[in-house]
Amino acid sequence: MHRQMQKLPFYHSFGGKSHDTAVELAGRLVDLAPVPMSKVFFANSGSEANDTAMKMVWYYHNAIGKPNKKKIVSRMRAYHGITIASASLTGLVNNHRDFDLPIDRVLHTDCPLHYRYANSGESEEDFATRCADALEQLIQKEGPDTIAAQCLALTLSIP
Ligand SMILES: Cc1ncc(COP(=O)(O)O)c(C=O)c1O
Repeated sequence: MHRQMQKLPFYHSFGGKSHDTAVELAGRLVDLAPVPMSKVFFANSGSEANDTAMKMVWYYHNAIGKPNKKKIVSRMRAYHGITIASASLTGLVNNHRDFDLPIDRVLHTDCPLHYRYANSGESEEDFATRCADALEQLIQKEGPDTIAAQCLALTLSIP
């Protein structure tokens, strides 16, 4: 960190620009990634990364001529960050109430936590099937052609 600060403390990577350290780090991240990838987009926080992911999903669907395919399904109780978009993905009432969130195009489906939300005597298998059915019903109600993505990460906030 100290060596880098002496060499180049900061430089952006927008507008087709980059620098050797960012290129090297991107290469190392691609090598480490658990799934095949070829691109890295740097962000300063998890919230900003999630906002960027949403923008990329919307950009992609505009680019392929599907401007109505923009809704993103997240889960109740999931935490995704504090910016307007990532707080919208977050499924916590306290993070929405009084902030006019979530923004439109963000939907929430059930929290898949058997311990808290299973009916009395409901097996994990049955509970998981009920959650999957609820997701399917939401997608059908909204229109599958309007659903762009689903959030998979789930950091639960359990009081
Ligand atoms: C799954 C998940 N997404 C996003 C965030 C937000 O990250 P940040 O606090 O860096 O904005 C967190 C933070 O805990 C998280 O757990």
